[in-house]
Amino acid sequence: MAEPKKLYIKTYGCQMNVYDSERMAEAMGGKGYVTTDTPDNADMILLNTCHIREKAAEKVYSELGRFKPLKKARPDLKIGVAGCVAQAEGAEIMARQPMVDMVVGPQSYHRLPELEEQARAGKKALDTDFPEELKFDHLAKRPKARRAPTAFLTVQEGCDKFCAFCVVPYTRGAEVSRPVARVLEEAQDLVERGVREITLLGQNVNAYHGGAEGGAWGLARLIRRLAEIDGLDRIRFTTSHPNDMEDDLIAAHGDCAKLMPYLHLPVQSGSDRILKAMNRKHRAADYVALIARIRAARPDLLLSGDFIVGFPGETEEDFEDTLRLVEEVRYGQAYSFKYSPRPGTPAAEKEAKMVPAEVASERLQRLQDLLNRQQFEHQQAMVGRTASVLFEKAGRMEGQLVGKSEYLQAVHVQAPDSLIGQIAQVEITEAGPNSLGGRLA
Ligand code: 5AD
Ligand code: SF4
Repeated sequence: MAEPKKLYIKTYGCQMNVYDSERMAEAMGGKGYVTTDTPDNADMILLNTCHIREKAAEKVYSELGRFKPLKKARPDLKIGVAGCVAQAEGAEIMARQPMVDMVVGPQSYHRLPELEEQARAGKKALDTDFPEELKFDHLAKRPKARRAPTAFLTVQEGCDKFCAFCVVPYTRGAEVSRPVARVLEEAQDLVERGVREITLLGQNVNAYHGGAEGGAWGLARLIRRLAEIDGLDRIRFTTSHPNDMEDDLIAAHGDCAKLMPYLHLPVQSGSDRILKAMNRKHRAADYVALIARIRAARPDLLLSGDFIVGFPGETEEDFEDTLRLVEEVRYGQAYSFKYSPRPGTPAAEKEAKMVPAEVASERLQRLQDLLNRQQFEHQQAMVGRTASVLFEKAGRMEGQLVGKSEYLQAVHVQAPDSLIGQIAQVEITEAGPNSLGGRLA
């Protein structure tokens, strides 16, 4: 039998790229490829790229540069660029870096096996179309191998919101939802292979409206149906826009036991002026009121969010509005970024209003200090409590396992390997900024 060919994939950016990389690896599995964790002896290298913030494209070119000696030593090596940089840059990538054989956008990666054949035949292969039919309909059924206890499942892609700073509507395209039956099928299949926790993914996942008999389903209805799957214990979803938090989804946080008490709900800024300039279509007070409603349904909800500082035109006062919102809302975890102009987005035209880099850096530091303090307070509040932990893998110390609490906090515990894939009660005894420690209750 022929040696299997080796595929090295490097994934940048969001969880959806992690999911896409898995699917691309599976698609190439059908052509006799197995994945490898080093590029050194690979037959094919694939960079699954991200374009959300600065210099993403530059990073890709410098990474590609590093593969030059490999390509020289093994001319048979095929190199591909996938993901959002591929979508945004297209053929430009091959023009700048001729050793690239394949460029494939996020909506056409079901064609990767064909593109690889083209590349093997010595032709450059490019596909950055937004095809009419969903790529999912063309991907092979997922293989039956046993899986880790947690998995991502993409249910929605693309975005119609057009926040002024964001490339997603251009790189991932318009909002599309996978049909309910397809999602249920994939979820059932994951559970049969050992998955206990599924995170539903979408750029705007709470706008999900998947086709079903009798009309489209919203995300809450989908979650309630998924919760009926025996053996599936935990459901999460990410990421959401405040304006799509429908009533039933809020209610589900209170009455659907399998929906975990963790919510990533970005607000981006606490200033109404900046929210307007960002085209977010809500005010700060709307967001604060929404959080209050969700917390009324699920008081122990751990809230996460995203923030951008230094958006064009942001004044010190606008920034202080953001700090005030954070003080009021109290986050258990959050991501914050300096604004980075993305070519082709409306905000990128406002060069004259750019906040000086030092000012933006200083604001980011102040915001992160506050968010880190809040995160640590949430972590410390766990000490003395019992958390239910889904164990995922061995920890760094001998005899230790790592898992996640309901609130998505990492928890380290001395526990036997047989608990991997199981949920156990853990008494939390210590809290660090990023992880908790405890003992089996
Ligand atoms: N600059 C900085 N941060 C950005 N994000 C999206 N676009 C930009 C940009 N141009 C952030 C937002 C979003 C997260 C995924 O990335 O906070 O929620
Ligand atoms: Fe980008 Fe999210 Fe705004 Fe859509 S809702 S444009 S993905 S930041």
